[in-house]
Amino acid sequence: MNTPPTRLLIAPSLLAADFARLGEETRAVEAAGADWLHLDIMDGHFVPNITFGPLVVKALRKHTAMPLDVHLMIAPADPYIAAFAEAGADIISVHPESGPHLHRTLQLIRSLGKKAGVVLNPATPVSAVAHVMDLLDVIMVMTVNPGFGGQAFIVSQLSKIATLRQMIGETGRDIILQIDGGITPATATKVLQAGADCLIAGTAVFGAPDYTQAISALRAARPRPQAELAASGG
Ligand code: DX5
Ligand code: ZN
Repeated sequence: MNTPPTRLLIAPSLLAADFARLGEETRAVEAAGADWLHLDIMDGHFVPNITFGPLVVKALRKHTAMPLDVHLMIAPADPYIAAFAEAGADIISVHPESGPHLHRTLQLIRSLGKKAGVVLNPATPVSAVAHVMDLLDVIMVMTVNPGFGGQAFIVSQLSKIATLRQMIGETGRDIILQIDGGITPATATKVLQAGADCLIAGTAVFGAPDYTQAISALRAARPRPQAELAASGG
């Protein structure tokens, strides 16, 4: 088992929010203790669902100080990256399958002063990021197939998470390992044990009656590092 990272970021996915009240929902999860706001951009082509674009990201920017974590499920992605950067995205992540030149896409995101991420679908191997680690701030592992919230967690991804944590360790770089899909307190424990340090959660937060309680329940899933256990005598 990898040593559990000490950092834990919670990024509620707005996909599960009330779309008629996006500003209010954003402020509510921020007040409830969220760290980042995860925004799922879908084009009905790369994935079989359509959500929203840079105009909505720009409108939400005014409602929160949280970093906006933009997950692009669009192909091609390159022509739209500048628009999302201008709209106020802080982190922009792309799927390697969305364009022919992943390295160039990551360079583009960074040239706009944004953090860059790669998203691995359940069937996408870790080798997809092996030669771009120097350009990455974030790696996102999909634990469902992209396109919809509320799907069941795909257990086979746990070994991929562990491998990626090891690969990140070998780079000596501070790359955040995010998990997206089917996150609940129970699955959170498993992915955190495998080495994740950022949980994206749609249904588990916005589907809960109390957002503060829902986010606390995800935080409580964190395995406590040895040093912390020793300090508390536990
Ligand atoms: C799916 C999206 C996810 C989605 C997760 O394509 O990338 O961010 O909102 O939803 P839950 O947490 O309900 O599985
Ligand atoms: Zn997502």
